[in-house]
Amino acid sequence: MRKLLTLATLVLLCLVMTTASAEQAAPSLIYTEPYLLSLHPDSEMNVLWLTREPTEGYVEYGPTPALGSRVEAKLHEIKGFRTSATPEGYDPDPANNPELPVYQLIAKLEGLPSGQVVYYRATTLQGEQSQVGKRYFFKTATQAGEAFDFALLSDMQMKVKTKETMHFLGQQHKDFILFAGDLSNTPWKVGEWFDVEGCWQAPAEADRTFFECFQQDNDNSRLMQYMPIFFCPGNHEVDDQRVMTDKEMAVNDDNWSWSIYMQLFRPLYPDQEYGVGGKHWYSANYGDMHISSINVHRWQSWDGFEYPSWITKDDISPDSAQVQWLNNDLSSASQKYKWVVMHWHMVNRGDDAWFPVSTAVADPQDSAKAIYPGGDYCWDVLRPMYEAYGVNGVNYGHSHVYERYLINGVNYIEAATIGNNYRAVNDPYHPSGIQPVVEENAFRSVMLVRVDENGMNARGIQASVEDNGVGYIGREFDGEC
Ligand SMILES: [Fe+2]
Ligand SMILES: [Fe+2]
Repeated sequence: MRKLLTLATLVLLCLVMTTASAEQAAPSLIYTEPYLLSLHPDSEMNVLWLTREPTEGYVEYGPTPALGSRVEAKLHEIKGFRTSATPEGYDPDPANNPELPVYQLIAKLEGLPSGQVVYYRATTLQGEQSQVGKRYFFKTATQAGEAFDFALLSDMQMKVKTKETMHFLGQQHKDFILFAGDLSNTPWKVGEWFDVEGCWQAPAEADRTFFECFQQDNDNSRLMQYMPIFFCPGNHEVDDQRVMTDKEMAVNDDNWSWSIYMQLFRPLYPDQEYGVGGKHWYSANYGDMHISSINVHRWQSWDGFEYPSWITKDDISPDSAQVQWLNNDLSSASQKYKWVVMHWHMVNRGDDAWFPVSTAVADPQDSAKAIYPGGDYCWDVLRPMYEAYGVNGVNYGHSHVYERYLINGVNYIEAATIGNNYRAVNDPYHPSGIQPVVEENAFRSVMLVRVDENGMNARGIQASVEDNGVGYIGREFDGEC
């Protein structure tokens, strides 16, 4: 009996201790898993992660799972995130929503050999607490002449099925992603990026935050922790989205900035010039391919015909800083392949294709009306440049559709049927009359591109089956480009 009592006491003690240790478990120091960015992916990689407090951290890395090398992370504060003012939801005025400081650790891994697998593990430190992360791996960019694979995507914005489409993409094990803008809906709403205690999220979107979708690693899915992403900003990367609806705000350049996007993806924008007139573009080389990422998007805070009509920031007129940079960038690139990622759909179906991309001026005959004497700079400035410099592909977003055009040897691809789509079946074609080679909006999809000894080949792949039952997951519906 005494033995039985002793045993029972031991069991009870174990239970009490287990409960106590669970209660005392330190809260997580981190908001996100690590993510990878690089402007020199053949030799260096930035490992970034977001933390709740100002912490220290380091990354261990090496050519085998044993790691071996270590680099300290640098701490940054991301300014501009806001949480909900009340548990019930957001006040539409960001001024009434409290700021939430979010911290970012960045460890720069340098001097890496090209085309090699690198294992890594991030550790976060605060006081006595040390939080050791999961071990992941990535591959540095291949050397010229070697094969690589990448995927095209855009417009996540917490849309339905986004998580499923991203998961499917993660299972394809690509080397990198070119993401053509519109990551979230309203950048300052921190609850759109990741979960924060007490921060209201729309119930239907609660499991579709940006990092939740982009960091899925279940069922052998490899996304942001495993590969660099090359982003460009879309209209939804403008910090304060009220410029899209508030006419008075929209006319003041001070209300246009890209600070949260540029802070989150800091290594792509080392100059951190957030405002109008800043540098919101970059380029990088990956094996045989040169990648140029530019900032082209616009919005109509007014009716398209009412002056001042569509607003275009980051001008793409022939003499603009962005076009001058792109001209120099593309002309000096010696890579066999060239690719441009930008948000605005420079050729697509839809009513908004009928408004030229240039600065609107008041019609002298009727000052209430807008006219565009500059013409369409996408068509008249960017397109000839792409053709002259032998750009192979341009991927963009915004319409949330799958369309691929082939114009004078350049592929224009919107591979953005990740969630909803904004295409009516009877939408007009582009004013040029050019029609897409492939248009497929009956289901979610991704585009996968492979570069190898057979050249550059791309496939549009079905990522989910809709209620209409069309096709099957993994079906190839768009072939070689
Ligand atoms: Fe979008
Ligand atoms: Fe957009």
